[in-house]
Amino acid sequence: MNAPIRDFVTNYAASQPLRLHMPGHKGSADGADITEIPGADVLYHPMGIILESEGNAAALFGTQRTVYSVEGSSLPIRAMVYLTALYASKSGKRPLIAAGRNAHKVFITAAALLDVQVRWLYPEGRGNLLSCDITPAGLEACLKTAREKPTAVYITSPDYLGNMADVAGLSRVCRKFGCLLLVDNAHGAYLHFLPESCHPMALGADLCCDSAHKTLPVLTGGAYLHISKTAPAFFTEAADAAMALFASTSPSYLILQSLDDANVKLSSSWTQALHRAAGEWEEAKQRLERGGYCLVGQEPLKLTLLPKSYGYTGDDLAHILEEKNIYCEFSDPDHLVLMLPVEYDRGLPDRLTQTLLSIPRRAPITTAPPALGQAEAVLSPHEALFRPAQTVSIQNALGKIMADPTVSCPPAIPVVCSGERIEKWAVAAMEYYGIEKVRVLQTIP
Ligand SMILES: Cc1ncc(COP(=O)(O)O)c(C=O)c1O
Repeated sequence: MNAPIRDFVTNYAASQPLRLHMPGHKGSADGADITEIPGADVLYHPMGIILESEGNAAALFGTQRTVYSVEGSSLPIRAMVYLTALYASKSGKRPLIAAGRNAHKVFITAAALLDVQVRWLYPEGRGNLLSCDITPAGLEACLKTAREKPTAVYITSPDYLGNMADVAGLSRVCRKFGCLLLVDNAHGAYLHFLPESCHPMALGADLCCDSAHKTLPVLTGGAYLHISKTAPAFFTEAADAAMALFASTSPSYLILQSLDDANVKLSSSWTQALHRAAGEWEEAKQRLERGGYCLVGQEPLKLTLLPKSYGYTGDDLAHILEEKNIYCEFSDPDHLVLMLPVEYDRGLPDRLTQTLLSIPRRAPITTAPPALGQAEAVLSPHEALFRPAQTVSIQNALGKIMADPTVSCPPAIPVVCSGERIEKWAVAAMEYYGIEKVRVLQTIP
């Protein structure tokens, strides 16, 4: 596989050009940082090297079309919501998306800004803020009784904890009811390269986003919008325009080259390294379980501990690891999430398990996270977003209506969405997750 963007930029920089174009550092910061000069193609009107490179990615992932993002999965998520709205309006319908409640806030704000109606799918089990188990049987029951058939079902898989949905089963249900299946696969780009692909494109999703930068050897910001081979051709025709609607007009060529390089790496030795790493990390996980740790999630490159049963909160354990110069992806009172590497020094899985097992086990912490409820939607998210709002402390938020869901709650899954009433359970949950302030409507409609 070739790397046409990398080749173009390397040749350009080597020709020592007089750079009378952006960026302002004129190559002094990095000679490979260029803009859309002649020959460099145009990201969302691709006809040259970008189209060729995206074609390489599409061949790798087995898609009808793969479009690059240099603005993370946030951009393709907005594009997916917009494409769904366009698709519905093509057949004279009102767009409606049935979405797992653990959606990232970008999905929520996109739907709110575009005035796309969302019907939440709540977890079938107890669930927590980060996870939302939706089974094919549960989805089928929900679609059977739905007053209005959704245009699309939107799920997050893998979720932040590494739980993976039965995408193939959900896809079969979506087909039966004539709905599209959209997957936020921000955490799962690498799933395509496992010995048996469990990437959403292989399992029947119509559209998905991948944050290449989260799990592949790609610079921060590199991501994909994938359109499956079986999705209506409309999505391929409209994809670039949909991305351009939300994207910067100054795409980073450093990130584009990184996505381009990834095609070469992913079609060579990286895949073997992934297979070896997945096996070694699986053994490490089993050692941790034998040593008393409780783990969740099926995703091979995530190690998610539920450390309360070992006597620590997730935040406690994160601090202990930080003192040893080990930095995790995420912690909260109940979880510690480590994102595992594919290429590493020999023996790393052993060293990490030994470090975790050397932390003395203590009496379990028995406090459970507050149960989450289902908030009452007083206004549509779109209406709530455009009304006068104010910031209040969480203690003064009871009974108020959430304005925008931009709560600083990593991993960006709001407890309450725009237009929903903040009830007692929500105040308790936000206090538990350390949220001190929220934006609420000035007046209650
Ligand atoms: C589940 C999920 N979806 C979407 C996003 C947004 O992705 P990005 O940061 O690549 O824009 C994130 C970011 O962490 C995420 O965790």
